Amino acid sequence: MTTFPSTAEPAGTADTTGTVLEAAGVTMRFGGLTAVRGVDLTVRTGEIVGLIGPNGAGKTTFFNCLTGLYVPTEGSVSYRGTRLSRKPHLVTKAGIARTFQNIRLFANMTVLENTLVGRHTRTKEGLWSALLRGPGFHKAERSSEQRAMELLEFTGLAAKRDHLARNLPYGEQRKLEIARALASDPGLLLLDEPTAGMNPQETRATQDLVLAIRDQGTAVLVIEHDMRFIFNLCDRVAVLVQGEKLLEGTSEVVQADERVIAAYLGTPFDDAPGAEEAAEVRAAEEARSGAAPGAAPEDSPPDAASGPATPEGGAR
Ligand SMILES: Nc1ncnc2c1ncn2[C@@H]1O[C@H](COP(=O)(O)OP(=O)(O)OP(=O)(O)O)[C@@H](O)[C@H]1O
Ligand SMILES: [Mg+2]
Repeated sequence: MTTFPSTAEPAGTADTTGTVLEAAGVTMRFGGLTAVRGVDLTVRTGEIVGLIGPNGAGKTTFFNCLTGLYVPTEGSVSYRGTRLSRKPHLVTKAGIARTFQNIRLFANMTVLENTLVGRHTRTKEGLWSALLRGPGFHKAERSSEQRAMELLEFTGLAAKRDHLARNLPYGEQRKLEIARALASDPGLLLLDEPTAGMNPQETRATQDLVLAIRDQGTAVLVIEHDMRFIFNLCDRVAVLVQGEKLLEGTSEVVQADERVIAAYLGTPFDDAPGAEEAAEVRAAEEARSGAAPGAAPEDSPPDAASGPATPEGGAR
């Protein structure tokens, strides 16, 4: 994989405390519904932090509160020690970039043009310069294009620079969203379900991409339903349930927590501790039900596989 050469330091690198994001007591109410309740979360330099929870837990709403899309009803959000503006473009300028759960690309623009759009918060050239197309504009345009091409190399999309975004396969559209987000040289990247709809190879490639982004100096906060992806990748994982943070800890701690298994995982995922035993129990139950494999006897407990959200995003 190509490196992720940065023409500028990630925004706001002056802070030396190592805290990139600090969300304190974030609450978001919609009328009578409290979608996020008193959530604290810190992301530090060099970290990949996961945010998991069942459908409707408030994960995307929390992202929207971080990026100025929603103004939290209560609480505060700071980036490198400075309280963030409530305007999304100023949040991006401060150093936080994001991708969306529902892909938001300019469908009729090329891959390169979409990436250039993400660059605008880092260029000084204003409207008049663009209209008059003077030497300053052309210089800025060349440097933006060079940076955009570096990012397309980095994300593996360089060969498709002139393709329209709408003609890309789904997995590449998600990659393009990441390239566009990186174009603003963020110090923190928020990814909302980056592997949704991807096949296993694409998911593995995205995992490598996220690691490379972190290694190049951008901290990452990622929402995912794919538990293997989360537990392979994240230094820390926070679990949201019904808008509240149920738990936060290392992957090992979180995946072993009974409340998490009960509230979210529902059933152990492949290769998880206990998965083998669970498979044995299922096989024994099927054998007991005899002639009708899979048909549970009336007095048997409900099949774990029909429990809450399946670990690999099956409840989507
Ligand atoms: N703009 C809004 N107005 C009213 N209710 C909203 C709004 N946005 C989100 N909600 C509600 O807030 C709750 C949390 O939704 P959110 O999309 O944040 O969940 P999520 O954890 O991202 O779920 P998923 O895993 O399905 O993406 C839901 O009950 C949702 O209906
Ligand atoms: Mg969501």
